[in-house]
Amino acid sequence: MAVAPTVLSCLVSSTVLLQIVMQFSPSFRNTTKRVFFTARCKPLGYVSSRLAPPCTDGIGRRRVGEVQVVMKYASLEMSYTRVTWLFVSLSLILFASARAQVPAIIVFGDSSVDSGNNNVIPTLLKSNFKPYGRDFYGGHPTGRFCNGRIPPDFISEAFGLKPAIPAYLDPAYTISDFATGVCFASAGTGYDNATSKVLNVIPLWKELEYYKEYQQKLRAYVGKKKANQILSEALYLMSLGTNDFLENYYIFPTRKSQFSVRQYQDFLLGLGENFIRELHGLGVRKLSVTGLPPMGCLPLERVTNILGQNDCVDEYNNVALEFNRKLEGLVAKLNKDLPGMRMVSAPAYDIFYQIIERPSLFGFEVTGLACCSTGTFEMSYLCSQYNPFTCSDANKYVFWDAFHPTEKTNKIISDHLIPGLLAKFSH
Ligand SMILES: *[C@@H]1O[C@H](CO)[C@@H](O)[C@H](O)[C@H]1NC(C)=O
Ligand SMILES: *[C@@H]1O[C@H](CO)[C@@H](O)[C@H](O)[C@H]1NC(C)=O
Repeated sequence: MAVAPTVLSCLVSSTVLLQIVMQFSPSFRNTTKRVFFTARCKPLGYVSSRLAPPCTDGIGRRRVGEVQVVMKYASLEMSYTRVTWLFVSLSLILFASARAQVPAIIVFGDSSVDSGNNNVIPTLLKSNFKPYGRDFYGGHPTGRFCNGRIPPDFISEAFGLKPAIPAYLDPAYTISDFATGVCFASAGTGYDNATSKVLNVIPLWKELEYYKEYQQKLRAYVGKKKANQILSEALYLMSLGTNDFLENYYIFPTRKSQFSVRQYQDFLLGLGENFIRELHGLGVRKLSVTGLPPMGCLPLERVTNILGQNDCVDEYNNVALEFNRKLEGLVAKLNKDLPGMRMVSAPAYDIFYQIIERPSLFGFEVTGLACCSTGTFEMSYLCSQYNPFTCSDANKYVFWDAFHPTEKTNKIISDHLIPGLLAKFSH
C-alpha cells in the first residue's frame, strides 16, 4: 500500500476509513462524519500560539484514537463479519501509515530555527513582540525571527506532525506538547561558546543539557521503552554557524587573532563533530544539518558593502560555500563512523541564493532590503511596530528583518528540502 507521509496523510486515511464505513453502514454516515470532521478541523483551527496537535494521542501514534471511534460506532450497527472485515482493512491502513511516521522533530541551532527560547532568557536578542509574528497563527509574535513560520515548522507539518514546533523553555507547553516536537535553539548562538556570549544567549552545550533533561522527562511521561523509540526514530534538525562568523569572527578581534578564517571553519566543524558524536551517544539516529546560508547577501551585510554598491559580500558567501563543502565531508565521515547514524547536510544554500539573485522567479519584488523598518540594519528591538517604514506585504520581500528571511522565503526553502527529508527519513 502506498505510504502518504505528508500532512495530508491524516486526512487521506480519514477519508479512506470514512468510505469503508459508509460502504458498510449507510445509516451511520452522519455519526461517523461528525467524528471525522472534528479530527479534520483541528489542525486548521488554531487561534492562539498554543497548539493542539492534530490527530495525535500526544506521543505520535496518530489515527489510533480515530479508529477506536470508528470501531465503536461501527460495532453498534454492523454484523460480526462486517466488523471483522473492517478491522482487517483498518489494520492494514494503520500499519502502512504508522510505518511512515517520524514520531517527533527535535531542533538545535540559532535564530534560523529558534521558535521562542530567547523569550525567557536575559538577552537583547528577542522577537516576541510585533511586528514579528504578524502572519503567524492569530497574528501572534512567538519569538520566531520572522513574520510567520520558520523551516522546522514546515518540515514538521510535512511529516504529518504539528504545524509549529514549540520552544522548550516556553512555560505555556509541557512534555505532552514536546513529545511530538521540541525546539532547543537559541537566536544568536553558534558552535563556538564565545559566540553565544556576545549576546548572552544559550550556548550549544547548554542546548544539549536541555535535551538530556527532555529525555528524562519523556521517559517519565511515556515510559522508558516508548521514549527510547521516539528518541531514536525522531528527526533531528541542526541549523547554526552564521553568527560564529558575522557576530563573532568578523566583529571581535579574539578569534581573528587565533585563527585564519579557514582554521576557524575547521575549529567550528570540530565542535560540531563533538556535538554530533554526543547526540549519537544519546541515541540520536536521524539528523539533518544545515550549513551556512549566503550570508554575504543578508541586508545587514549589504548595507556595509558601500564600495560594492550594496551588493552581496562575496567574501562571506565564499566562506559559507567552503564551510558547507567541509560540512558535507564531515557528514560523510560520521555516517561511516557512527553505527546506525543516518545524516544529511541540507542543501539550502543554492535555493536561497537563487531566490536572492532572481527574486521575480519566485514571486518576490525586493531582495536587497528587508521588510521591517528601513530594511537595512533593524532586527530584534530595532524592528518595532511603531516604525512607519515597515512594509505592508512581507510576501514581496525575501528578507523580513536585516538578518532573517520572510515566511515565504522559509517556505520555498523548506519545500525544496522536504522531498529529500521524506525520502531519507520517513521509514
Ligand atoms: C442524516 O441526518 C439528517 C439530518 O439530521 C437526516 O435527515 C438524514 O436522514 C440522516 N441520514 C442518515 C443516513 O442517517
Ligand atoms: C564551552 O563551555 C562549556 C561550559 O563552560 C565547557 O564545558 C566546554 O568545554 C566549552 N567548550 C569549548 C570548546 O571550550
